[in-house]
Amino acid sequence: MPKNRTFTMLKPDAVENGHTGAILEKINTAGFRIVALKKTQMTKTDAETFYAVHNERPFFQELVTFMTRGPIVAAILEKENAVDDFRTLIGATNPSDAAEGTIRKLYATSMGENAVHGSDSSENAEIEGNFHFSGREQF
Ligand code: RTP
Ligand code: MG
Repeated sequence: MPKNRTFTMLKPDAVENGHTGAILEKINTAGFRIVALKKTQMTKTDAETFYAVHNERPFFQELVTFMTRGPIVAAILEKENAVDDFRTLIGATNPSDAAEGTIRKLYATSMGENAVHGSDSSENAEIEGNFHFSGREQF
């Protein structure tokens, strides 16, 4: 995947609460092009694999339970400086620390249930995008 891409998931809380359209609109307005998009549900193995980097952390089981409890919306996004600009658009992990107008400030309810995922590097964006989408699903 080129360096101008990132990967996101609208997490189960955001989808359950009916925020999918509003969040996609914010992403679009911020200048990201949608390369791939789908609504899906992660299995326990999917979530354990996707978040394996956190498997020693105290919140890991809570995170896996949360991420598998309902559908998510996964997307690959393209824009100059995509990884950093998307992290700015979503705001801090804990919504109480997130800047005004960010997606987490607007739609997250807690540190755990924080509405949206954003890749933390181009390398991880490529791994995460390819975890969810085949080559034929990326345009
Ligand atoms: P993400 O990977 O989902 O974009 O979030 P992030 O980089 O801002 O935060 P990270 O440290 O990678 O944590 C991944 C996700 O784990 C949940 N979490 N819960 N209860 C807790 O203390 C806690 N800490 C993290 C959140 O859903 C967080 O986004
Ligand atoms: Mg992270």
